[in-house]
Amino acid sequence: MKVNGEHYRTIWPSVDDPSTIEVIDQRKLPYRFTTKSLTRVEDAHDAIRDMVVRGAGLIGAAAGFGMHLAALQAPSSHYIQAIIDAGNYLKSARPTARDLAWAVDRITALIDPADSLQTVRRKVFSEACRIADENVESCKQIGSHGVKLIHDAWIKKEKKRVNILTHCNAGWLAFVDIGSATAPIYAARDAGIDIHVWVDETRPWNQGSRLTAWELQQENIANTLITDNAGGYLMQKGEVDLVIVGSDRTTYTGDVANKIGTYLKALAARDNQIPFYVALPSSTFDWTLDKGNDIPIERRSGEEITTITGATKNNSLETVNLAAPGTQAVNYGFDVTPARLVTSLITERGIVQAEHSAIHSMFPEHAPAVPAG
Ligand code: MRU
Repeated sequence: MKVNGEHYRTIWPSVDDPSTIEVIDQRKLPYRFTTKSLTRVEDAHDAIRDMVVRGAGLIGAAAGFGMHLAALQAPSSHYIQAIIDAGNYLKSARPTARDLAWAVDRITALIDPADSLQTVRRKVFSEACRIADENVESCKQIGSHGVKLIHDAWIKKEKKRVNILTHCNAGWLAFVDIGSATAPIYAARDAGIDIHVWVDETRPWNQGSRLTAWELQQENIANTLITDNAGGYLMQKGEVDLVIVGSDRTTYTGDVANKIGTYLKALAARDNQIPFYVALPSSTFDWTLDKGNDIPIERRSGEEITTITGATKNNSLETVNLAAPGTQAVNYGFDVTPARLVTSLITERGIVQAEHSAIHSMFPEHAPAVPAG
């Protein structure tokens, strides 16, 4: 995606020295566009934990490159164990996004205990790059499948503007490029469909107001910021044609964990007969879970609710209190939208019903083995 007209990915190995991984520091957006260099696995872990990088897809890519840094740091005496330990350490950075463990496990599975340290380092780096490239490719495919849904809505409205509501940031900044929920939106823009996006501000971290609105502006997509509570009202007024959100973890039965507040949008959409779509690459499926209730939900510091950071008129970054000192706050990062409220899932292989047999038919390699005889 473009920043001031220049194309960027959200994470990349430094061109001069691939032992340094560069990321965009999302804590400072949209006030400052700065990058941060990661040179140790600890840097990758902390960048994920502290949300320098965030969004399930990007967390997965950062974990992949974190494994690369771990392989470079691994001592020659016990490098296999050191890399496995680093993988577990990376997995502990955030609990909900499935892509984190998926990327670590995918890389760990490649390592053969008989491999030399040089071979391991080569394998880990190329797999981390492949994970990042596939992430981009999956988003492109999600765009080409999902655009049909926006096109249908446009035709149904006799080619009048299509209003799409999204929650949190499931855009370029949540992936390596393009994004999942935004991919069909960008594809619709490219197809000449008149679109407008309602952007939920997404309290408390404000991924919507700080990231999605900024990202859409960079791409010249018409968008309007709304409070998290406004979506239901706009739906009742006929101002929302469809909802597209992302996912941090989806069970093979179609229950979707996404940023806190997503469930309320799904309820309001159902009450107003508005389609509710979830766009996700298959790396986000948890093939071991059949119940959304079993998805681990992150709890973050209450300070994210009681304070807020923004830019002053002089453009210096300042944090101010939003509540009386000592106020207790509980900060759940995600909620689970049950499959029954999801119209369909948009994946890199196509649009699928949020239901286990449909999901397994689209991804037969993850379907339970049929007993012989
Ligand atoms: O806490 P975050 O910003 O990492 O949460 C991100 C979201 O909930 C996104 O909507 C989600 O990752 C889907 S897009 C990959």
